[in-house]
Amino acid sequence: MKISDKIRVAVLFGGRSAEHEVSLQSARNVIQYLDPSRFEIVPIGIDKQGDWFLGNDIFTRSLEQNKVPKSLDNDTWFTPEWVGKSVTTTKDQQALSPSLNKQMFDVVFPVVHGTLCEDGTLQGLLELANLPYVGCGVLSSAIGMDKDISKRLAINAGIPVPAYMTIKADQWRANAAHFAALIKDKLSYPVFVKPANTGSSIGVSKAKDEKALFAAIEDAFRFDTKIVVEKSLNNIHELEVAVLESLEPNTDPIISVVGEIKPKGHEFYSYDAKYTDEHGAELLIPAPITNEIKEKARAAAKELFLLLECEGMARVDLFFDKDTQQIYFNEINTLPGFTKISMYPKLMDASGVSYSELLTHLIQLAIKRYQTKSQLIRSYAG
Ligand SMILES: Nc1ncnc2c1ncn2[C@@H]1O[C@H](COP(=O)(O)OP(=O)(O)O)[C@@H](O)[C@H]1O
Ligand SMILES: [Mg+2]
Repeated sequence: MKISDKIRVAVLFGGRSAEHEVSLQSARNVIQYLDPSRFEIVPIGIDKQGDWFLGNDIFTRSLEQNKVPKSLDNDTWFTPEWVGKSVTTTKDQQALSPSLNKQMFDVVFPVVHGTLCEDGTLQGLLELANLPYVGCGVLSSAIGMDKDISKRLAINAGIPVPAYMTIKADQWRANAAHFAALIKDKLSYPVFVKPANTGSSIGVSKAKDEKALFAAIEDAFRFDTKIVVEKSLNNIHELEVAVLESLEPNTDPIISVVGEIKPKGHEFYSYDAKYTDEHGAELLIPAPITNEIKEKARAAAKELFLLLECEGMARVDLFFDKDTQQIYFNEINTLPGFTKISMYPKLMDASGVSYSELLTHLIQLAIKRYQTKSQLIRSYAG
């Protein structure tokens, strides 16, 4: 990397994910606020089929159409389906030649959410491509995306989670009545039903009886082959804490002030409350809770960030149950919403890290990790 030149940042947006549209809004702000004196931006749109398109034009058209448009064939810059295939066709040669001749960017900022984006798959591709990238690596991305595995690790460390059970699609199809009885008995209604691997409340429902449970489970299985069914906590503060890795070696991560999400006119923080209804939720920063609970929430966030081996950033979502006075781990988001008014950047801003500073910090972390990992031995002759 040429230190004197501007750092070329590939901003990835869109993606083969149910959170495609959300990603465009985040990317719009990231592209707007990246410090132009330090960074040159290379926008890369990933359409819903997984094809990658490069350039400012695709970014503008994506915002206009609220999705990365299916482009003309010769605009395709990369498609994962080429991996393992010969590159003799005109299309492949055209598309691959720029990257073979000259590296087109120095670091990747994945501004994408959900499956095939935030779950370690994209991170794996970037590792194989030998590129520095912002945020969590393969392992913590995959763990963070999986609501079952991340909960298991929290339980293992003694951090409370709401009582839950995991069901695979095959198991449900074979024995639905058995699971319905178990849910009623062990968790009791109401329960939350969630695909194990989505975000933005996609496929998440609250079921108050058996009829609603069956409908909720069928819906959740449209998005994933594994779901979690979870006891509903009915008297909560929904707390969120932003965590940012430090640039200094051997230093604790930066833990933000605590925020609270208050759904308004919605029973829970659903997709509509998040994105469709402008007044669907209030974001309270700082959360109106005692200092003691705030400190407990911040300590839990730090512990979870380190426990799940996160890198770069993560937003840790917790519940404070007013009935039991207990903090519960809900989930961790390794590529949290990144619009300027999203919780993660707002929490960091309230903690003294502005949006532009945050972007610069994350890119510096990505480059630092890449440089450290580049020094590892990859072949060993004994
Ligand atoms: N066990 C629970 N008790 C109470 N509310 C819950 C529970 N689980 C989820 N919710 C509500 O549903 C929302 C979405 O669930 P969450 O697990 O955060 O999924 P997502 O990853 O899609 O954001 C939460 O923000 C919260 O409002
Ligand atoms: Mg959530």
